[in-house]
Amino acid sequence: MKDIVFDLINEEKARQTDGLELIPSENYVSKDVLEAMGSVLTNKYSEGYPNFEGLTSWSEAKIAKEILPNYRYYGGQPNVDRIERLAIARACKLFNADHANVQPHSGANANEAVYFAWCEPGDNILAMNLGHGGHLTHGSPVTRSAKIYNFIPYGTTKEGDLDYDEIEKLALENDVKLILIGYSAFMKIPDFERVVKIREKAEKKWKHEILLMADMAHVAGLIAAKVHPNPLDYGFNVMTTTTHKTLRGPRGGLILTKGTVGSPLKKVKEKTLENIPTLVDKAVFPGTQGGPLEHIIAAKAVSFGEALKPAFKTYAKQIVTNAKALASRLIENGFLLQGGGTDNHLILINVKTSYNITGKFYEKALDLVGLTLNANALPGDTGGAFNPNGVRLGTPAITTRGMKKPEMGKIADWMKQVALLCQKAETIEVLEKDYSEELAVIRDEVKNLSHDFPVPSI
Ligand SMILES: Cc1ncc(COP(=O)(O)O)c(C=O)c1O
Repeated sequence: MKDIVFDLINEEKARQTDGLELIPSENYVSKDVLEAMGSVLTNKYSEGYPNFEGLTSWSEAKIAKEILPNYRYYGGQPNVDRIERLAIARACKLFNADHANVQPHSGANANEAVYFAWCEPGDNILAMNLGHGGHLTHGSPVTRSAKIYNFIPYGTTKEGDLDYDEIEKLALENDVKLILIGYSAFMKIPDFERVVKIREKAEKKWKHEILLMADMAHVAGLIAAKVHPNPLDYGFNVMTTTTHKTLRGPRGGLILTKGTVGSPLKKVKEKTLENIPTLVDKAVFPGTQGGPLEHIIAAKAVSFGEALKPAFKTYAKQIVTNAKALASRLIENGFLLQGGGTDNHLILINVKTSYNITGKFYEKALDLVGLTLNANALPGDTGGAFNPNGVRLGTPAITTRGMKKPEMGKIADWMKQVALLCQKAETIEVLEKDYSEELAVIRDEVKNLSHDFPVPSI
């Protein structure tokens, strides 16, 4: 008999089939990505790295054939080496990078490795305020990094843009080692050029190099498809990302670097920005991780291959078109959107001001009809992280299912109907008890639409 775990996996398949995923950090991978993840590569230990030669002047056929001396600690690596080389070569091509480390187990690991590669304990790091849309790994006091480095937060303006004047002021007041642009809830396009200019001024003042890092976990797929600017094209030294959001790969992290690629086995002569590719490699392994997950790296390689195809550009464009359509219908339906709308795939709604309900209540209510999103703090939220007044949603997953403008309208209309029910019910218990019939009608409509747009790999 099969393990009971497989029954639960089947239940999760049904949940994904019957409902709509609106969490902006989630997506549905292809069958090929899923197949690579579930492959025999999970049986292999491969601490270290493959050979890095010829990866940016790449030819896929050559890489797939060539077996070169590697930087690994165990034998038996000919296949793993070629797969990891393909992943690196494709990542570099997608993001115009000189080098890529495809081994981080997650986005959090990728960020930690970069801090570890460049900073010393106590160094100042400028990063976005978590309450304004930054990520936990950008200096939340509960993280290990925040105990090692001194994170100085910058915020957003009233209009919802990054407060570049504040970034400049802080960079000139504090001896910063690293400036990080990155976020989990920010709807505009960053002005990377302005940040590069701020770095120049700060470097003159502090008389040392300052690393520019972009954590583009959310918009990496848009960058890969060239529907969003690439920070590496503007002079940023490092870009980190997760591989599972808009990029539509397996759950994992990726670090892209500009600079000279060296041997990860040798000591790095100088801690300079030019040497950042090797500093990062050493910081990932052996600095912060052990053996790489080669089955995940293979799945990353497959997803990067998919992202290099013209169809991915069409997909990424549609993500943004859908987000804009969804945002404008939500506004018509009485929702107040942070920043007045979106320029990427992310939407942040102030549900307290819009419908006088809390984010958590609304999240739970939408779950009952098969619409999944997450409660999220708004800038300066009085409810804090545990009882925020906002919800965050996005379009990468529903766009993968093939949805377009008409479906965005339907989703925004269901969201209004549920918000009105929440308003009347006031608590989730009353909502479930007294409004079950109304909820069931919406639940059926959501299910029917979901079945019209199947999940690709199910
Ligand atoms: C901007 C940003 N960085 C890093 C991460 C962390 O990624 P992971 O959950 O893979 O550790 C996230 C995840 O949501 C994120 O949004």
